[in-house]
Amino acid sequence: MGVRVGVVGGGQLARMMIAPAVELGVEIRVLAEQDGMSAALAATRVGDYRDLDTVRAFARDVDVVTFDHEHVPQDVLRALEAEGVQVHPGPDALRFAQDKLDMRARLAELGMPQPDWARVTTLDELQSFLDDHGGRGVVKTPRGGYDGKGVRVVGAATEAQDWFTALAEDANGGALLVEELVDFTRELAQQVARRPSGQIVAYPVVETVQRGGVCAEVIAPAPRADGRLAAEAERIGLAIADGLGVTGMLAVELFETTDERLLVNELAMRPHNSGHWSQDGAVTGQFEQHLRAVLDLPLGETAPVQPWAVMVNILGGPAQGSLAERFADAMTRHPSAKIHTYGKAPRPGRKVGHVNVIGDDLDDVVYQARAAASHFVD
Ligand SMILES: Nc1ncnc2c1ncn2[C@@H]1O[C@H](COP(=O)(O)OP(=O)(O)OP(=O)(O)O)[C@@H](O)[C@H]1O
Ligand SMILES: [Mg+2]
Repeated sequence: MGVRVGVVGGGQLARMMIAPAVELGVEIRVLAEQDGMSAALAATRVGDYRDLDTVRAFARDVDVVTFDHEHVPQDVLRALEAEGVQVHPGPDALRFAQDKLDMRARLAELGMPQPDWARVTTLDELQSFLDDHGGRGVVKTPRGGYDGKGVRVVGAATEAQDWFTALAEDANGGALLVEELVDFTRELAQQVARRPSGQIVAYPVVETVQRGGVCAEVIAPAPRADGRLAAEAERIGLAIADGLGVTGMLAVELFETTDERLLVNELAMRPHNSGHWSQDGAVTGQFEQHLRAVLDLPLGETAPVQPWAVMVNILGGPAQGSLAERFADAMTRHPSAKIHTYGKAPRPGRKVGHVNVIGDDLDDVVYQARAAASHFVD
């Protein structure tokens, strides 16, 4: 196709853009944090994404810059845009995925349903929020959290003392986010893709299961998501993508409450773990869709190709040896499983791969996906 996409960040999300890029004839380049990362196959540069000169030099050789993570600083992104670089998603949208306090304030303006929340800068402020919400709450560091790091359920303000101390040392001042502890029945995720020229498509809402703050499994579409619930999730996803001017893939993490309302947990403006099922379970996988969207190409169909798709993460990997040694067994026993690995060294809790299975019998699909993934973990 003769176009070039540059992905900042060398993790598995960048890695999984490589296959669809090759298929589409899109040249893909990666700015990796270090050698030997997941996306090393397409890494053209190793460098610090916080350094303007490094990112600028990387951007010079591509038509569009996009991301594997949310951490490129605003001033770097704004400088690139000012120099005419196509950046998708752009800094005006991305800031709401970078900072959870900014996100909460903006979602409130858009009238999106979300947990009660407050910006707190002192123990007293935090305690008073907790007192108003049954004595408990969820404290979050606004920036830099992932996989549950930077999220803490507290029953007293003093349990966040260390984070306040760290804030006090932060030259920029700063604040923490506190949210009501939502009594949810389950977590869902809604993905949409949006092009710079405005075309927008939604995927079916999915159910996500987290263990220890990390996504463990995804079922697509979300079981028992009746027409109303699915339509409400889609409405929220589309409204946020349009309202924030997101370009590329957007994931909206949602809570389903005991009284069947949906509340927005957080946003990711890139392909997301909740969408890995679509690689094998949808007409257009999220990594291909992200490329199409950031290149402002017509978007692909999002419909599932089978009634059910289940994704199970391979967390940690084998205690001894490599993932590679486990392939033959898993493939023999579970020929319907699609195995994806990230080229990362096994380490407790680390996401090193995932398995997708699709089919028409949900019990069987869940069983096959779990069983196949379990071959790779001790
Ligand atoms: N207000 C809340 N009430 C109840 N549970 C919550 C709340 N906020 C977060 N959680 C739980 O903590 C998990 C992680 O929270 P959140 O998604 O904000 O953190 P993160 O580390 O940025 O996430 P990710 O793993 O998606 O990067 C959620 O998936 C949910 O299970
Ligand atoms: Mg999350």
